Amino acid sequence: EVDVSKLVIQRTQTPGQLKKEEELVFGRTFTDHMLAIEWTAGKGWSAPRITPYQALSLDPATCVFHYGFSCFEGMKAYRTSSGELRLFRPEKNMDRLSTSSARIALPPFDPKAMVECISRFVALEEKFVPKKRGYSLYLRPTMIGTQPTLGVGPPGSALFFVIASPVGPYYPSGFKAVSLEATSKFVRAWPGGTGDKKLGGNYAPCIVPQQEAAKRGFQQNLWLFGEEGYVTEVGTMNLFTCWINKDGVKEIVTAPLDGTILEGVTRDSILALAREFLTKEGWIVSERKYTIKEMAEAADEGRLLEAFGAGTAAVVSPLRRIAWDGGVGGTQRDINIPLQKGKEAGPIAERIWKWMEERQYGDVETSWSVHV
Ligand code: COI
Repeated sequence: EVDVSKLVIQRTQTPGQLKKEEELVFGRTFTDHMLAIEWTAGKGWSAPRITPYQALSLDPATCVFHYGFSCFEGMKAYRTSSGELRLFRPEKNMDRLSTSSARIALPPFDPKAMVECISRFVALEEKFVPKKRGYSLYLRPTMIGTQPTLGVGPPGSALFFVIASPVGPYYPSGFKAVSLEATSKFVRAWPGGTGDKKLGGNYAPCIVPQQEAAKRGFQQNLWLFGEEGYVTEVGTMNLFTCWINKDGVKEIVTAPLDGTILEGVTRDSILALAREFLTKEGWIVSERKYTIKEMAEAADEGRLLEAFGAGTAAVVSPLRRIAWDGGVGGTQRDINIPLQKGKEAGPIAERIWKWMEERQYGDVETSWSVHV
């Protein structure tokens, strides 16, 4: 097992510093150090090491390059207004990484021990955690197979590492509502597939569809599934829709975890917050299948209230418009999503975002916010 008491720290000789918040581009700059733990079949996990941030040296035959033995996490460290550091639901991320890892024959680990190592790493990188609201230290735990042979089989060696990047808004355009192109031409995930795991291999195939959408002026794809046009995810995020449903009831809905949906930590948090606060105001909170046709009908009947993406990187990402080809035998049309006058979000997205931030930055104490 990973033994935190054996953690070795080798400090950098050339310390850097945090850039001005306004200059931060998502995932562009990194902190002084990285965390690494090696695994070998038979021997298990080596002592965790924090070293200066540095290039990896890997044999060109290493299985990660050929067969995609790679999975990762996205999580964040926040600075509270009193200056303390917090991780947001880190065990959720480590639990998910262990599930992703198991799916591609990478080694098991104790999620709690990994959280402890990450916490020690974040403490060392303290000065890189921004103060400003909307800013945080994005952490990228990654697990790769490192066996340097071309036979296709379970890797006999692996590397877990964590790098960290101070970040602000995910999109280069800043905190702005985005427009989407709904697509059935490309399929992100399917039953029995691996779209519900955070594998590196799930992300590369999304770039060409995104480039195609970008040519027509859309920031992201809305991923549909099947002839029915089930609404699944948006870009790399889970998706929430708020509407007055066909029974005339206010409903906030997201696709269910049926094996085609990534089990987002933000998704889970938003569901919990919606159940806590919105149900008191007459909302129902649903995890169920729904279609793009139902969204279009709701828009036509003035029942579509809001839609937004939800993920660790952007937290909440409001949508303004979806272009849809109309499905089988249908015609191209736009689904317009209301925003508040002069704002880049609807009222529910805005409130949920605030509830999330209050907990992430520790204004409201919850068991989600873990002290570093
Ligand atoms: C997220 O946090 O929403 C993501 O999955 C984005 C990440 C792959 C950069």
